[in-house]
Amino acid sequence: GAAGLVIGAAGGVGVTTAGSDGGTTDGAGADGTPALTTVGSTEVMFHGKHQAGITTPSQSRGHLIAFDLAPGAGRKEAVALMRRWSVTAEAMMAGRAPDGDTGIALDAGPSSLSVTFGFGRTFFDRTGLTPRRPTALDPLPAFSADALDARRSEGDLWVQIGADDALVAFHALRALQKDAGDAARVRWQMNGFNRSAGATAKPMTARNLMGQIDGTGNPKVTDPDFDRRIFVPAGTGGATDWMAGGSYAVVRRIRMLLDDWEKLPVDRQEKVIGRRKSDGAPLSGGSETTELDLNKLGPDGKTVIPDNAHSRISAPEQNGGAAMLRRPFSFHDGIAPDGTPDAGLLFVCWQADPLRGFVPVQRKLDRGDALSSFIRHESSGLFAVPGGPAEGEYVGQRLLE
Ligand code: HEM
Repeated sequence: GAAGLVIGAAGGVGVTTAGSDGGTTDGAGADGTPALTTVGSTEVMFHGKHQAGITTPSQSRGHLIAFDLAPGAGRKEAVALMRRWSVTAEAMMAGRAPDGDTGIALDAGPSSLSVTFGFGRTFFDRTGLTPRRPTALDPLPAFSADALDARRSEGDLWVQIGADDALVAFHALRALQKDAGDAARVRWQMNGFNRSAGATAKPMTARNLMGQIDGTGNPKVTDPDFDRRIFVPAGTGGATDWMAGGSYAVVRRIRMLLDDWEKLPVDRQEKVIGRRKSDGAPLSGGSETTELDLNKLGPDGKTVIPDNAHSRISAPEQNGGAAMLRRPFSFHDGIAPDGTPDAGLLFVCWQADPLRGFVPVQRKLDRGDALSSFIRHESSGLFAVPGGPAEGEYVGQRLLE
């Protein structure tokens, strides 16, 4: 049998079956090429305490897609849609073709596909569920550097798709879009990518399109306060209890002004972040995982990690412990009308409460981050992502039932 890695929705990895050869060449095709490598056969669990796609290792392809309920569609249509979407997502994540399949993912394994569903602020009014809307979905404050495009922001419903194969990811996108039927219409859609699994000799923190190692400071699943910071606890009280085990996603399309960035010499680029470009080590010394020494002074009497360095300003110690789990995709949508690359970061961050995660950090970054002159926030979304479905449940059932 083919070796299969199974990733729990909470990110734990286990091996289902493995041949004596590790399974990678087991069941080779007629031409002798290996059948399913672990990339194809890795399966992410649909059911669980939390939805998949939050602590799941980042996949190499991603689609973010927001929908608005169609005019006239309300709670009944929303329930039916969440049922359809859950059935389809569960099948595809297990590597099975959904009903009426397009065939795009035929021959491929699950390829770490994860599908994550969220509800935007406007969903609650449309479905008559306003009393159950968490205050955490109150609109994010405006930031001085925002250049937001409303048509590519927010939305009633949000779906995050990730997979380690581009066809598997696109297949999922099409299937879910077809499922929307007459109930919901696409509001915006964004396509992203990350480094492919296996591209580096050993697993490493990914790089973004500025060339920086990005993700080092993220909280780790093994941190004692990880759950408290990232997931909504149970028993928060009545109207919003349905969010137990859920998390809030802040989504920002952040354009990188790469032509300007790439003109900066590397030592200046490193001062913008406060970390070395080659290996991500703090400018205060050590290796990638060494803690930043924010007080260390250089020979010139100034702090080695500058006052406006991105990693200083965003560090949890500088923000009363505010922490978020950043799980972005890069994007590249070709060349913009002004001739510059339309590329950057589909920034997605996860937290139990946006007011203790994204908001205070972005407020400070907005005021004095050295990175600001090289980026532009172009769209924004805030979504309530409910806990994972139990067997036999659909996503969001505890809100909609
Ligand atoms: C850290 C890049 C936007 C929050 C970092 C690091 C890099 C980076 C290279 C250092 C390595 C690491 O710890 O991951 C970028 C780029 C951005 C961007 C290129 C935009 C295109 C943001 C935004 C926020 C944010 C919008 C939140 C409002 C953080 C946090 C850390 C961090 C919390 C970790 C700090 C620590 O734990 O010490 N970012 N970032 N970043 N960034 Fe960003």
